Amino acid sequence: MKVLVTGATGQVGRELVSCGAQPVTRADLDLTAAGTSDFAAAARDLLAGVDVLVNCGAWTDVDGAEDDTNAVQVETVNTVAPGELADIAAGEGVRFIHVSTDYVFSGAPPVEDGSPRPWRIDDPVAPANVYGRTKAAGEVDVLAAGGTVVRTSWVWSGPHAPGRDFVATMAALADRGVDPSVVDDQVGRPTYAADLAAGLWQLAEVLHSGGT
Ligand SMILES: NC(=O)c1ccc[n+]([C@@H]2O[C@H](COP(=O)([O-])OP(=O)(O)OC[C@H]3O[C@@H](n4cnc5c(N)ncnc54)[C@H](OP(=O)(O)O)[C@@H]3O)[C@@H](O)[C@H]2O)c1
Repeated sequence: MKVLVTGATGQVGRELVSCGAQPVTRADLDLTAAGTSDFAAAARDLLAGVDVLVNCGAWTDVDGAEDDTNAVQVETVNTVAPGELADIAAGEGVRFIHVSTDYVFSGAPPVEDGSPRPWRIDDPVAPANVYGRTKAAGEVDVLAAGGTVVRTSWVWSGPHAPGRDFVATMAALADRGVDPSVVDDQVGRPTYAADLAAGLWQLAEVLHSGGT
Protein backbone atom coordinates (compact mmCIF):
# COMPACT_ATOMS: atom_id res chain seq x y z
CA MET A 1 0.00 0.00 0.00
CA LYS A 2 1.44 3.35 -1.02
CA VAL A 3 0.26 6.19 1.21
CA LEU A 4 1.05 9.88 0.72
CA VAL A 5 0.63 12.44 3.50
CA THR A 6 0.40 16.22 3.14
CA GLY A 7 1.37 18.31 6.15
CA ALA A 8 4.23 15.85 6.65
CA THR A 9 6.17 18.27 8.87
CA GLY A 10 3.26 18.65 11.30
CA GLN A 11 2.40 16.68 14.42
CA VAL A 12 0.17 14.08 12.79
CA GLY A 13 1.90 14.04 9.42
CA ARG A 14 5.32 13.15 10.75
CA GLU A 15 3.86 10.29 12.79
CA LEU A 16 2.22 8.99 9.61
CA VAL A 17 5.61 9.15 7.93
CA SER A 18 6.90 6.97 10.79
CA CYS A 19 4.09 4.51 9.96
CA GLY A 20 5.37 4.31 6.37
CA ALA A 21 3.64 7.15 4.53
CA GLN A 22 5.59 9.14 1.97
CA PRO A 23 5.89 12.80 2.93
CA VAL A 24 4.47 15.73 0.97
CA THR A 25 5.71 19.06 2.29
CA ARG A 26 4.85 22.67 1.48
CA ALA A 27 7.80 22.66 -0.94
CA ASP A 28 6.23 19.77 -2.86
CA LEU A 29 2.67 21.12 -2.88
CA ASP A 30 1.77 24.55 -1.50
CA LEU A 31 -1.86 24.35 -0.43
CA THR A 32 -2.28 28.12 -0.82
CA ALA A 33 -2.03 27.49 -4.58
CA ALA A 34 -5.22 25.39 -4.59
CA GLY A 35 -7.56 26.47 -7.35
CA THR A 36 -4.76 27.04 -9.87
CA SER A 37 -3.93 24.79 -12.80
CA ASP A 38 -0.35 24.42 -11.51
CA PHE A 39 -1.67 23.05 -8.22
CA ALA A 40 -3.89 20.51 -9.95
CA ALA A 41 -1.07 19.37 -12.22
CA ALA A 42 1.37 19.02 -9.30
CA ALA A 43 -1.20 17.08 -7.27
CA ARG A 44 -1.89 14.69 -10.18
CA ASP A 45 1.85 14.08 -10.60
CA LEU A 46 2.26 13.30 -6.91
CA LEU A 47 -0.67 10.85 -6.98
CA ALA A 48 0.78 8.61 -9.67
CA GLY A 49 0.88 5.06 -8.27
CA VAL A 50 -0.55 6.15 -4.92
CA ASP A 51 -3.26 4.13 -3.14
CA VAL A 52 -4.28 6.49 -0.34
CA LEU A 53 -3.73 10.23 0.22
CA VAL A 54 -4.05 11.52 3.79
CA ASN A 55 -4.45 15.30 4.07
CA CYS A 56 -2.88 16.53 7.31
CA GLY A 57 -1.96 19.92 5.84
CA ALA A 58 -3.95 22.74 7.38
CA TRP A 59 -3.90 26.28 8.66
CA THR A 60 -3.89 25.37 12.38
CA ASP A 61 -3.21 28.79 13.95
CA VAL A 62 -6.71 29.25 15.38
CA ASP A 63 -6.12 32.80 16.66
CA GLY A 64 -4.24 33.85 13.50
CA ALA A 65 -7.20 32.69 11.42
CA GLU A 66 -9.26 35.50 12.97
CA ASP A 67 -6.96 38.12 11.38
CA ASP A 68 -8.70 39.38 8.23
CA THR A 69 -5.37 39.71 6.42
CA ASN A 70 -5.07 35.89 6.56
CA ALA A 71 -8.63 35.20 5.40
CA VAL A 72 -7.83 34.17 1.82
CA GLN A 73 -4.97 31.88 2.85
CA VAL A 74 -6.98 30.23 5.64
CA GLU A 75 -9.92 29.54 3.35
CA THR A 76 -7.71 28.30 0.51
CA VAL A 77 -5.74 25.89 2.72
CA ASN A 78 -8.62 24.64 4.90
CA THR A 79 -11.52 24.64 2.43
CA VAL A 80 -10.45 24.90 -1.22
CA ALA A 81 -7.40 22.60 -1.03
CA PRO A 82 -9.11 19.64 0.71
CA GLY A 83 -12.05 19.72 -1.69
CA GLU A 84 -9.81 19.94 -4.73
CA LEU A 85 -7.46 17.21 -3.49
CA ALA A 86 -10.46 14.97 -2.81
CA ASP A 87 -11.75 15.60 -6.36
CA ILE A 88 -8.38 14.92 -7.95
CA ALA A 89 -7.84 11.80 -5.82
CA ALA A 90 -11.26 10.46 -6.84
CA GLY A 91 -10.41 11.06 -10.49
CA GLU A 92 -7.12 9.19 -10.12
CA GLY A 93 -8.67 6.25 -8.23
CA VAL A 94 -6.88 7.22 -4.99
CA ARG A 95 -8.71 6.93 -1.65
CA PHE A 96 -8.70 10.18 0.28
CA ILE A 97 -8.66 10.74 4.06
CA HIS A 98 -9.03 14.27 5.41
CA VAL A 99 -8.25 15.23 9.02
CA SER A 100 -10.66 17.69 10.58
CA THR A 101 -11.49 19.04 13.99
CA ASP A 102 -13.99 19.30 16.84
CA TYR A 103 -13.89 23.06 16.16
CA VAL A 104 -16.64 22.41 13.57
CA PHE A 105 -18.98 22.24 16.58
CA SER A 106 -20.05 25.20 18.69
CA GLY A 107 -18.40 25.95 22.01
CA ALA A 108 -21.47 24.81 23.96
CA PRO A 109 -21.76 21.05 24.52
CA PRO A 110 -24.97 19.27 23.52
CA VAL A 111 -27.31 18.58 26.42
CA GLU A 112 -29.26 15.33 26.78
CA ASP A 113 -31.60 14.53 29.68
CA GLY A 114 -30.38 17.69 31.38
CA SER A 115 -26.68 16.76 31.24
CA PRO A 116 -23.94 17.72 28.80
CA ARG A 117 -22.78 14.84 26.60
CA PRO A 118 -19.83 14.37 24.21
CA TRP A 119 -20.26 15.32 20.57
CA ARG A 120 -21.51 12.67 18.16
CA ILE A 121 -20.39 12.60 14.55
CA ASP A 122 -23.86 13.41 13.25
CA ASP A 123 -24.46 16.37 15.56
CA PRO A 124 -25.03 19.51 13.47
CA VAL A 125 -21.94 21.62 12.95
CA ALA A 126 -21.98 25.20 14.24
CA PRO A 127 -18.45 26.58 14.11
CA ALA A 128 -17.78 29.54 16.38
CA ASN A 129 -14.67 30.87 14.64
CA VAL A 130 -12.95 31.20 11.26
CA TYR A 131 -10.80 28.08 11.73
CA GLY A 132 -13.87 25.96 12.51
CA ARG A 133 -15.91 27.49 9.69
CA THR A 134 -13.22 26.86 7.07
CA LYS A 135 -12.62 23.30 8.32
CA ALA A 136 -16.37 22.57 8.29
CA ALA A 137 -16.66 23.82 4.70
CA GLY A 138 -13.69 21.64 3.74
CA GLU A 139 -15.44 18.58 5.19
CA VAL A 140 -18.50 19.19 3.01
CA ASP A 141 -16.43 19.33 -0.18
CA VAL A 142 -14.36 16.26 0.77
CA LEU A 143 -17.46 14.18 1.51
CA ALA A 144 -19.11 15.34 -1.72
CA ALA A 145 -16.07 14.01 -3.61
CA GLY A 146 -16.31 10.62 -1.88
CA GLY A 147 -13.50 11.21 0.62
CA THR A 148 -13.42 10.18 4.28
CA VAL A 149 -13.30 12.71 7.13
CA VAL A 150 -11.67 11.99 10.51
CA ARG A 151 -12.21 14.59 13.24
CA THR A 152 -9.76 14.88 16.09
CA SER A 153 -9.10 17.26 18.98
CA TRP A 154 -6.30 18.65 21.16
CA VAL A 155 -3.45 16.85 19.37
CA TRP A 156 -0.20 16.55 21.32
CA SER A 157 3.10 14.91 20.49
CA GLY A 158 5.17 14.46 23.64
CA PRO A 159 8.85 15.14 24.24
CA HIS A 160 10.17 12.85 21.48
CA ALA A 161 8.75 15.19 18.83
CA PRO A 162 7.61 18.44 20.41
CA GLY A 163 4.95 20.14 18.31
CA ARG A 164 2.94 23.32 18.39
CA ASP A 165 0.83 21.83 21.18
CA PHE A 166 -0.24 22.59 24.74
CA VAL A 167 1.98 19.94 26.34
CA ALA A 168 5.12 21.18 24.56
CA THR A 169 4.31 24.79 25.47
CA MET A 170 3.81 23.96 29.16
CA ALA A 171 6.96 21.79 29.24
CA ALA A 172 9.01 24.62 27.68
CA LEU A 173 7.64 27.12 30.23
CA ALA A 174 8.44 24.71 33.08
CA ASP A 175 12.01 24.32 31.76
CA ARG A 176 12.35 28.11 31.99
CA GLY A 177 10.93 28.16 35.54
CA VAL A 178 7.74 29.95 34.45
CA ASP A 179 4.58 29.28 36.46
CA PRO A 180 1.92 30.13 33.82
CA SER A 181 -1.70 31.13 34.24
CA VAL A 182 -3.97 29.21 31.85
CA VAL A 183 -7.68 29.20 31.16
CA ASP A 184 -9.67 26.70 33.21
CA ASP A 185 -12.97 26.82 31.34
CA GLN A 186 -12.09 24.67 28.33
CA VAL A 187 -12.83 20.95 28.25
CA GLY A 188 -11.36 18.70 25.59
CA ARG A 189 -10.07 15.26 24.77
CA PRO A 190 -6.28 15.17 24.25
CA THR A 191 -5.21 12.99 21.32
CA TYR A 192 -1.69 11.58 21.12
CA ALA A 193 -0.41 12.21 17.59
CA ALA A 194 1.19 8.77 17.27
CA ASP A 195 -2.07 7.03 18.28
CA LEU A 196 -4.02 9.09 15.77
CA ALA A 197 -1.51 8.29 13.02
CA ALA A 198 -1.77 4.57 13.80
CA GLY A 199 -5.56 4.81 13.51
CA LEU A 200 -5.31 6.72 10.23
CA TRP A 201 -2.94 4.06 8.89
CA GLN A 202 -5.43 1.32 9.81
CA LEU A 203 -8.19 3.29 8.11
CA ALA A 204 -6.03 3.61 5.00
CA GLU A 205 -5.62 -0.19 4.99
CA VAL A 206 -9.39 -0.67 5.26
CA LEU A 207 -10.09 1.78 2.41
CA HIS A 208 -7.33 0.25 0.30
CA SER A 209 -8.84 -3.20 0.72
CA GLY A 210 -12.17 -1.89 -0.54
CA GLY A 211 -13.85 -1.14 2.79
CA THR A 212 -15.72 2.01 3.70
N1 LIG B 1 -3.32 20.30 16.55
C1 LIG B 1 -4.54 20.07 17.04
O1 LIG B 1 -4.78 20.18 18.25
C2 LIG B 1 -5.65 19.64 16.11
C3 LIG B 1 -6.92 19.43 16.65
C4 LIG B 1 -7.94 19.04 15.80
C5 LIG B 1 -7.71 18.85 14.46
N2 LIG B 1 -6.47 19.06 13.96
C6 LIG B 1 -6.27 18.84 12.52
O2 LIG B 1 -5.33 17.80 12.37
C7 LIG B 1 -4.57 18.01 11.17
C8 LIG B 1 -3.09 17.93 11.49
O3 LIG B 1 -2.81 18.90 12.50
P1 LIG B 1 -1.37 19.04 13.17
O4 LIG B 1 -1.57 19.24 14.62
O5 LIG B 1 -0.48 17.94 12.69
O6 LIG B 1 -0.93 20.43 12.54
P2 LIG B 1 0.48 21.16 12.59
O7 LIG B 1 1.44 20.46 13.47
O8 LIG B 1 0.18 22.61 12.81
O9 LIG B 1 0.98 20.96 11.07
C9 LIG B 1 0.30 21.55 10.00
C10 LIG B 1 0.92 21.04 8.73
O10 LIG B 1 0.26 21.69 7.61
C11 LIG B 1 1.29 22.19 6.75
N3 LIG B 1 0.82 23.35 6.01
C12 LIG B 1 0.28 24.48 6.50
N4 LIG B 1 0.07 25.34 5.50
C13 LIG B 1 0.47 24.73 4.36
C14 LIG B 1 0.51 25.11 3.00
N5 LIG B 1 0.11 26.32 2.58
N6 LIG B 1 0.97 24.23 2.09
C15 LIG B 1 1.41 23.00 2.46
N7 LIG B 1 1.41 22.58 3.74
C16 LIG B 1 0.96 23.45 4.68
C17 LIG B 1 2.41 22.58 7.68
O11 LIG B 1 3.59 22.73 6.93
P3 LIG B 1 4.76 23.75 7.42
O12 LIG B 1 5.58 22.98 8.43
O13 LIG B 1 5.50 24.04 6.15
O14 LIG B 1 4.08 24.95 8.00
C18 LIG B 1 2.43 21.37 8.62
O15 LIG B 1 3.10 20.30 8.02
C19 LIG B 1 -5.04 19.36 10.61
O16 LIG B 1 -6.01 19.13 9.62
C20 LIG B 1 -5.70 20.03 11.80
O17 LIG B 1 -6.73 20.93 11.38
C21 LIG B 1 -5.42 19.44 14.75
